[in-house]
Amino acid sequence: MSDGLEGVVAADTVLSEVDGHAGRLVIRGHSLDDLAGRATFEAVTHLLWDGFFDDLPRDLAPALGAARAEVFAEVAALDTGLLDRTPIEGMRALTARLADGDDLNTALRLAAAASVFTAAVVRAQAGEAPVAPDMALSHAADTLRMLRGKAAAPAEVAALDTYLVTVSDHGLNASTFAARVIASTLAGLGSAVLGGISALKGPLHGGAPGPVIDMLDAIGRPENARAWIEDALDHGERLMGFGHRVYRVRDPRADALKKAVKRLTDGSNIMPGRLAFAEAVEAAALAILRERKPNRPLDTNVEFYTALLLEALAYPPSAFTCVFATGRVVGWLAHAREQVVGGRLIRPASRYIGPMPLEAA
Ligand code: ACO
Repeated sequence: MSDGLEGVVAADTVLSEVDGHAGRLVIRGHSLDDLAGRATFEAVTHLLWDGFFDDLPRDLAPALGAARAEVFAEVAALDTGLLDRTPIEGMRALTARLADGDDLNTALRLAAAASVFTAAVVRAQAGEAPVAPDMALSHAADTLRMLRGKAAAPAEVAALDTYLVTVSDHGLNASTFAARVIASTLAGLGSAVLGGISALKGPLHGGAPGPVIDMLDAIGRPENARAWIEDALDHGERLMGFGHRVYRVRDPRADALKKAVKRLTDGSNIMPGRLAFAEAVEAAALAILRERKPNRPLDTNVEFYTALLLEALAYPPSAFTCVFATGRVVGWLAHAREQVVGGRLIRPASRYIGPMPLEAA
């Protein structure tokens, strides 16, 4: 048996390939480099969903806009109990209110939900009223507008669009596997997405970027990096934003997002000096990880520069995982449909290693 199912192939997919040795991500025949910063989130959603839904419109922007407007009604169900929870728990609870199903409209509503509910939860936690969607905007533009209550600058919209595309799909990661297992029981797309959100929120998966900010803030200055990192590792902690189950080299998404942070912040007054500081911390972390784990290549993963980018877009770190879900939800939905259309019930076996009942003498 492979611990943590490492290296086990559990599905055939046409959706994406993660090459851990080459450091390459392919999404439906396109390398990430060709998509990030070039294709819109709506176009990549079409790419992922093509062939898995009947009557898929060529331009998904109006349909996604209409779905945002439709799910906004559920925001009224946000109560004070939910506001005491983390944003991902609030967003998940509102998503659970949507009707389950297996068709395109269900998928569109689920894809819209993460954007609309995240903005509403973050605003409500800050004591601000929710902002209704604007169907005419792109998903990225409206996602930021609903969060802030005013239009975001084109450079910010472009940065979020790049982020959403970059995290839209990534092979059989833990949340996508969870979504596929649920879809394989024919429970419905809503159930699969709720499973995906639940798996994503853990710090070993999509919950890492908030703690990256905590780490950067605790380090404070580049000259403190080595001592802080050594101390954390001495205490058995893991460095958030480093290491990956599949990549043995740098995660290509880290570079795509670092470029997006650079594009957004260079020559602007957004977070002056922050990127250079993060690069210094990253260099120190990589050097120390290399010294301490010479036999285990540990490199920067997607979450390190996710943290920088979402911080530059003024998201509170507590909501970073919700933004990850806003992009990844379209991948979960594609995988869930691929599973339903071409797969079987996923039901592996376990090996019993407990005691057996005593035989009668
Ligand atoms: N910091 C310090 N040591 C690490 C790290 C890290 N970030 N990652 C792995 N290691 C070490 C482990 O301690 C272990 O050492 P050991 O063999 O001496 O015990 C060795 O590397 C192998 O670790 P595993 O846990 O077996 O590796 P696995 O493939 O299960 O872990 C994971 C992958 C969970 C991402 C891990 O690298 C980690 O915890 N990273 C930090 C959290 C993080 O960044 N999560 C986001 C991942 S990206 C994503 O899911 C979107």
